Amino acid sequence: MSRQQQERDPQGGSAIRLENLSKQYPNSPHPAVDNVSLDIEPGEFVVFLGPSGCGKTTLLKMVNRIYEPTGGKIWIDKTEVHELAAPQLRRQIGYVIQQTGLFPHMRIADNVATVPRLLKWKKARINRRVEELLDLVGLPPESYARRYPAQLSGGEQQRVGLARALAAEPSTMLMDEPFGALDAITRNRLQEELLRIHRQIKQTILFVTHDIDEAVRLADRIVVLRQGKVEQFATPLEIISNPANDFVAELVGAEDVLRRMSLIPIASAATAINGQRNVDDPTISGSSFLRDAIGTMVETGSERLSVVDEDGHPVKSLTMEDIQQAVSTSDAEENASERRATSASD
Ligand SMILES: Nc1ncnc2c1ncn2[C@@H]1O[C@H](COP(=O)(O)OP(=O)(O)OP(=O)(O)O)[C@@H](O)[C@H]1O
Ligand SMILES: [Mg+2]
Repeated sequence: MSRQQQERDPQGGSAIRLENLSKQYPNSPHPAVDNVSLDIEPGEFVVFLGPSGCGKTTLLKMVNRIYEPTGGKIWIDKTEVHELAAPQLRRQIGYVIQQTGLFPHMRIADNVATVPRLLKWKKARINRRVEELLDLVGLPPESYARRYPAQLSGGEQQRVGLARALAAEPSTMLMDEPFGALDAITRNRLQEELLRIHRQIKQTILFVTHDIDEAVRLADRIVVLRQGKVEQFATPLEIISNPANDFVAELVGAEDVLRRMSLIPIASAATAINGQRNVDDPTISGSSFLRDAIGTMVETGSERLSVVDEDGHPVKSLTMEDIQQAVSTSDAEENASERRATSASD
């Protein structure tokens, strides 16, 4: 690689193709990853969802060659990952692991600077970047940069892990339950930050979670895994409204999500338009509920609706993203109102 290439911040994501990918650990009765084929678009945010032990971590670790597959191939853009030396490959891929994996003997700032240093960025640029990232994940550099990982809480360490993975703006990010140990508020904030960063940089993200609400909120498409096999690979809308089988339906709690959606008024999820609308958007009454909107989207194949008032005038628009947002926040509100109801009756 030339110096110039090394200094370039890659913008936009890589296409990732898994081709009949398998991993059979020695002395194990079943493959941990079983003949998985997926085509992931450049810049796509793909969430892997499935129960403990279904192969999510194993799959991610094959993409950056921490583990070698026992069968199949992985392509990142036009390169089969085996054609690259593993260290070179890993510099191009941000990785947030399930247990934060920070270097214990290095200060927080040095942890975040790991990859930019390998890429031989200039010192001033590294320092700027480290400060920017620590601010981004809510750890003010003046109080955190010089500490060691053991002097941070578990949640704070996870945020450093996120900052470190983002440092060189990699075109691919592998994230293994990065927000697992965080409280709901911090988790929400980091999800929002991650979505914002993703909209800006459009890296390809492979993200693992157990949490269906997190998956629905973040994913362009969700991969549902069971015992190393893909049960469904589809948009959150398709997965919730049309689960491929009973396993998927149960895992995503499709009934529960649909029940919640039938309680949320469209008006509370839709966003304002300024007079204009796309005339091709199907219309829906502002007095109906999200479940009706999903029905209309599935029927018409449109992921955006025009919300109309009683006189049929367009007043708002409603997108798939609005619905995802409303469904993922309704959980917290529901819990809060249940608590209020309980304390009021005490
Ligand atoms: N290094 C290893 N050697 C042998 N078996 C392993 C190894 N790592 C994982 N496994 C097995 O492979 C299967 C998949 O494990 P993996 O860690 O990929 O699951 P996971 O979906 O990430 O689970 P979790 O949600 O609990 O993190 C499990 O049955 C696990 O016991
Ligand atoms: Mg795992």
